[in-house]
Amino acid sequence: MCSILGLSSDRDVAPIIVDSLKKMEYRGYDSVGVAVKNESEISVKKGVGKVKDVNNDIQMDKMQGHSGIGHTRWATHGGVTVENAHPHLCNSSSIGVVHNGIIENYAELRKDLEKNHNVVFKSSTDTEVIPNLLQVYFEKSHDVKRAVMDTVQRLKGHYAFVALFKNGEMVGVRNHEPLILGIGENDLLLTSDVIGLPENFNSVVYIDNNQFVIIDDHKHKIYDFQGHAAQFAIKKIPKNYQNVTKGEYEYFTAKEIFEQPDTILVAGDEDNDYLQKIVDFIRDSDYVYVTGSGTSYHISVIAKYLFSRFAGKKVEHVMASEMKYSSRYIIPNSTLFAISQSGESADVLEAVSICKKKNAKILSMVNSKNSALARDSVFSIGLNCGPEIGVAATKSFTSQMAILYKIADKLCDGCLAVDFKTVSDAYAKMLSDTSKIQELAKAIKDIQNLFVIGRGIHYPISKEGALKIKEITYVHAEGIAGGELKHGPLALMDSSTYVIVINPDDDSYVDNISSVHEIKSREAKVIGISNKPDPSYDYWIQIPTIREDLYPLIEIIPLQLIAYYLALERKIDPDYPKNLAKSVTVK
Ligand code: F6R
Repeated sequence: MCSILGLSSDRDVAPIIVDSLKKMEYRGYDSVGVAVKNESEISVKKGVGKVKDVNNDIQMDKMQGHSGIGHTRWATHGGVTVENAHPHLCNSSSIGVVHNGIIENYAELRKDLEKNHNVVFKSSTDTEVIPNLLQVYFEKSHDVKRAVMDTVQRLKGHYAFVALFKNGEMVGVRNHEPLILGIGENDLLLTSDVIGLPENFNSVVYIDNNQFVIIDDHKHKIYDFQGHAAQFAIKKIPKNYQNVTKGEYEYFTAKEIFEQPDTILVAGDEDNDYLQKIVDFIRDSDYVYVTGSGTSYHISVIAKYLFSRFAGKKVEHVMASEMKYSSRYIIPNSTLFAISQSGESADVLEAVSICKKKNAKILSMVNSKNSALARDSVFSIGLNCGPEIGVAATKSFTSQMAILYKIADKLCDGCLAVDFKTVSDAYAKMLSDTSKIQELAKAIKDIQNLFVIGRGIHYPISKEGALKIKEITYVHAEGIAGGELKHGPLALMDSSTYVIVINPDDDSYVDNISSVHEIKSREAKVIGISNKPDPSYDYWIQIPTIREDLYPLIEIIPLQLIAYYLALERKIDPDYPKNLAKSVTVK
């Protein structure tokens, strides 16, 4: 979602803020802005577009001042306009605010501020109530701490914000959205993600929920919302999480797809103890719910197939955003296994909070071990695949799946015995020559609709493949269980339709070939992803022959590549697809 930043330093902060915003852009990229405090005022520059382009136009990085705030936006309230871009100032221009999250009661607060305090609003955002409430309370008490405490009493919703006061003080406030304080030699930086920290920072404080930080004269103090001084721990910045670059690749999405021969080998590796503890928890629970959103939800569905087939353990998958509608009855002594790359998805955190209230124990699988989800769990296993910046989840998906295989293997006392080196070699082989997929992408670049079918455990892979295609190519794509074709979707097939069939040589093969014939009879074209050729395929994307139960781990690679090369053919930046952002921290 949005990224927020606040920097207090002994040098000009604007160039550093602009650099950090470029690194945090994956959280939202429809508009950007910076405000700095100089001798006499808070000045603001903002614009619509990516950080680099807006900065080229209006030189935000040339602003002068030793404290400042910055923002990249993913619009929730109000269109994508310069007026709605952050930072927002209060009416007296003495306080500037950048905000991530949603103020649920903003309409009511706006009315009150207009009626009782003559505030004139300049944007249609929910954010603008925050600097104006701060102004009202600061004018009363002339005390920043008091003004923050009074303001947060009035705000409903999940939010984090950074406020810059004209008197030089800066405040960072956290209520359910991420906020981190980075500590450098002469710098203090508030940020939504450690990725935003410049290289000279080496320690961080993860601000807890319902806490705020006041930075004054290069010193920081942390309080809870009641104003009591809070305990906090200073931690080292996790390795790999700074100076994240694209390396030799043009896009993060490509880098992350091509990293998979390495990342698959280390999935969950740092946490072997946790893996065993998670296994024990699952074994001892009367019932296990698995949840996640988007790609991580597809992993929950895979967990169901994998655990029931190999570990004799029935689990129920629940889409995180659906938990509140399906949780009236949670079986006692249950475990919720929550899966999330970011560990910050609001829907997943909500599912956790619902299940906690029903006494379920929480396990999780995350990429960021300091995320809210990891901190909310009894045990949390790390993907260990390094930061994923491309909006489309790629390497995190295969790492999540690898960890599921490891858990299933322990649950069945070693019956799976996966040699991940074989999987890594299969990845390397598929990634070493992508020319056929590039040709296919050229041939289908103008299609409007695409179907992906798979059966059994390959069904969630078909959903995942379709999700990749729709999010980075804007082609309408649907993942369908092969057997369901005849129950409706066949009506959509004609000579302009393409269907990708996930068809490894396993127990789903014969049924899939029947589906292929049904599709071909309607003149639609078939793209077969298989280790075996078949004369009915219009295109054959070959995958290596591998042990039968490992196909789910490898067949996703060509689907990721089809999505990636199709995005390039369609002139879409795969790292920043329209209307999306990574880390969906709003409900
Ligand atoms: C798809 C994608 C999203 C995320 C979803 C959950 O490529 O990236 O669907 O999978 O927003 O995100 P996490 O796993 O961070 O909870």
